[in-house]
Amino acid sequence: MADWFEEYFGEEYLLLYPHRDLEDAERLVQLLGDTVGLAPGWRVLDVACGSGRHAAAFKARGGAVTGLDLSKHLLQRAHESLEFPVIRSDVRCIPVRPRTMDLTVNLFTSFGYFDSDAAHAQAVAEMVATVRHGGWFALDFLNAVQLPKELVPHEEGVLAGSPVRIDRWLDEGGEHVFKSITTSDGRRFVERVRLFTSEELALLLSAAGCAVSHRFGDYDGAPLAADSPRVVLAGQVA
Ligand SMILES: C[S@@+](CC[C@H](N)C(=O)[O-])C[C@H]1O[C@@H](n2cnc3c(N)ncnc32)[C@H](O)[C@@H]1O
Repeated sequence: MADWFEEYFGEEYLLLYPHRDLEDAERLVQLLGDTVGLAPGWRVLDVACGSGRHAAAFKARGGAVTGLDLSKHLLQRAHESLEFPVIRSDVRCIPVRPRTMDLTVNLFTSFGYFDSDAAHAQAVAEMVATVRHGGWFALDFLNAVQLPKELVPHEEGVLAGSPVRIDRWLDEGGEHVFKSITTSDGRRFVERVRLFTSEELALLLSAAGCAVSHRFGDYDGAPLAADSPRVVLAGQVA
């Protein structure tokens, strides 16, 4: 059986997240660019780039961007509309020459999808291995401490003009958050994300050779706090 993330990120995904737009991405890219000293010509790898909104913003700042994603549908969208090279691949096995990127990023909760923590560690190791010595790696994830306090269990949404039901729940140990979207014609999409805390993420990065030096709690650069909306970590690779 296919993993959930192999089927979830198609056309419906874009329709469901219209507010996650370019403007939103530009704020985060500006923050990261300023943090790492992004210079024109820098080689940037956007891992799990989706339709390429962050990649487009990096490109606009002079980055030589490559996007990588597993979703054929989203990569097609990225390549056609934004014209930068894309690679279709799983994050656990990245076909990029090691130590060639100035900056590799993984943004907007594009992490925590696998069945085991060993697979998550492998994904981090693969991403960090693409970065040159002294280059940067950045990860933007949900805040696993705050999320359970704000979880909205049921919600009505709209997908392409039709109503959808959205349900969210945690598993018994509180290790994963689930979100299911049920369409009016009975289709159901279920997303599952491992709730890594910022400390756990920093440890994963450190084990892969990236020492986290910056911890932000939103896309405007607020310091990370217990109730921050996001966890944005950045560090240099030894
Ligand atoms: C939440 S979306 C974010 C996309 C993009 N970063 C953005 O902010 O618009 C997660 C992305 O991860 C990609 N993805 C999921 N599992 C993956 C895997 N195993 N390897 C590579 N990409 C994956 C999906 O196809 C999707 O584009």
